[in-house]
Amino acid sequence: MERGVSEEKNINMALYLVTGGAGFIGSNLTDELIRRGHYVRIIDNFATGKRENINPSAEFFELDFTNLDAIRPVFEGVDGVFHVGARPSVPYSVDNPIASTLVNMNGTIHVLVAARDAGVKRVVYSASSSVYGIQPQLPQRIDMAPNPLSPYAIQKYVGELYCRQFAELYGLETVSLRYFNVYGPRMNDVGAYVPVFTFFLRQVRAGKPLTIFGDGEQSRDFTHVSDVVSVNIAAMESSKVGHGEVLNAGIGGNTTINEVAKMFGHPTTHLDPRPGDVPRSQADISKTIELLDWKPTVAFRDGCADWLRSEGIEPSE
Ligand SMILES: NC(=O)c1ccc[n+]([C@@H]2O[C@H](COP(=O)([O-])OP(=O)(O)OC[C@H]3O[C@@H](n4cnc5c(N)ncnc54)[C@H](O)[C@@H]3O)[C@@H](O)[C@H]2O)c1
Repeated sequence: MERGVSEEKNINMALYLVTGGAGFIGSNLTDELIRRGHYVRIIDNFATGKRENINPSAEFFELDFTNLDAIRPVFEGVDGVFHVGARPSVPYSVDNPIASTLVNMNGTIHVLVAARDAGVKRVVYSASSSVYGIQPQLPQRIDMAPNPLSPYAIQKYVGELYCRQFAELYGLETVSLRYFNVYGPRMNDVGAYVPVFTFFLRQVRAGKPLTIFGDGEQSRDFTHVSDVVSVNIAAMESSKVGHGEVLNAGIGGNTTINEVAKMFGHPTTHLDPRPGDVPRSQADISKTIELLDWKPTVAFRDGCADWLRSEGIEPSE
């Protein structure tokens, strides 16, 4: 008998755990997993996440993932873990090297141990392009030697090493995705450590000029959150990975902060460069495309224009 569509969907349905599911990327990922018919559990402690981001169809556990005993039961029966949760800020880590290490580094090893002990098949880890630091050339390829310029970059890099080691030592399937700068709906807009988009948005709303650190010619491979969501799901599902691979998750673009500011159509002012900031970043995504059969779909100007309109700002060009 031929298998019907609905039966096919049931067979493909999985139980996933998303750490940091109340945050920007984790909540967008959760929504898409649920939209595709999967079950999702979330662990979050609201360090930077928001209650309103939690998908009501997910099972939510308000826990700190650095507490191994508390999180262990949540991993029972889980097919795959997306370890997205972290304190994701270079300046926060420069100001708080110990606190950020406890979450980003120690937290990751706790999640890996809990996953291993519960018999989880695969962990997809949210790594970071900050690992590259300054490189002699662009785009950044995963065979380039890491050059972390901040505590955050070191912490995220150590997470990758642990992921690879857990695959080698214990047979826990792992994949690390080095995100480049991610933007889109639900970007963090609270507190001192916010991405450039919400930083500029605040200044527009306060009627102040946009503050640019340095000359504004530093460039980033701004990546829409929907592309980061799709690459995570591809990394979880692909049969070609799971051995601790590290892959770039960007779009291969190279947009300067001045260009971002221009899209806001607002006056600017310049301050000194910030310590730990990377001057230029751009992803080589050839290996990601090859191994995951994935491609980014949102060009920066389109994604940024959509986001600006969603915030009530008409993009300037
Ligand atoms: N946003 C980017 O541009 C970017 C770039 C590279 C890498 N990343 C990585 O992507 C991941 C998600 O980033 P984001 O932008 O969505 O950040 P976010 O701050 O919106 O989300 C992080 C989530 O983790 C939660 N969290 C923090 N510490 C926790 C703990 N101890 N226990 C439980 N939950 C905890 C927070 O409350 C929050 O909901 C992070 O691992 C980050 O390092 C993000």
